[in-house]
Amino acid sequence: MKLFIDTANLAQIREAASWGIIDGCTTNPSLIAKEGRDFAETIYEICEIVQGPVSAEVVAQDSVGMLREAALLRQIHEQVVIKVPMSWEGIKACRALSDDGARVNVTLCFSAAQALLAAKAGATFVSPFIGRIDDTGQDGLAVLADIIQVFENYHFETEVLAASIRHPQHVYESLRLGAHVATMPFKVLEATIHHPLTDRGNDLFLADWASVPGGGLEVTVGAFLARRSKG
Ligand code: E4P
Repeated sequence: MKLFIDTANLAQIREAASWGIIDGCTTNPSLIAKEGRDFAETIYEICEIVQGPVSAEVVAQDSVGMLREAALLRQIHEQVVIKVPMSWEGIKACRALSDDGARVNVTLCFSAAQALLAAKAGATFVSPFIGRIDDTGQDGLAVLADIIQVFENYHFETEVLAASIRHPQHVYESLRLGAHVATMPFKVLEATIHHPLTDRGNDLFLADWASVPGGGLEVTVGAFLARRSKG
């Protein structure tokens, strides 16, 4: 499973990239607006940090406009993936862009039927918004499971990108269901490493280590290696 970071905040992206586990990045107009920076510069800088696909969203609502915007976005960086909304115009644009060799992420997906349309239109990714489905009182993970099942039934190449992830349990469940990608905000990614037993276990190891003689790991191992090299 690939892990994408869902933000346009460069500091967060740099920090996550330094951990060595990030495969790509997703942005949307709201995330871009939050940063208050130049759109194209931001996308370019993200591409330079992340060694993988970076989704940049069109804002035109008609396919001709989307294709015009996509042509510009593709020139920002070769890693750019064109994000189009789930609409007939978006699907038309997806078909044309995929036929032209561009990678497309069809976003704002809330049902298996919609995901099917993205796959039929040659999308590289389709993004079901799990958290936003949960917000309506429905089960976002159940919709994700349906989409994955449909894609397995028909062997679509489109990757299911679990989006609108709100907490580590969403990450775990997406993984268990077989989503190809999970994209999440920095705070969810950061929280994924924590477990009370891990933190407590580490504290205990450190407390016990304090009673080991030798003046610290580097000193004691350094002294050992020096003794060995002298024969
Ligand atoms: C995905 O590409 C979207 O940017 C994102 O996951 C939306 O998440 P939200 O519902 O938390 O805004």
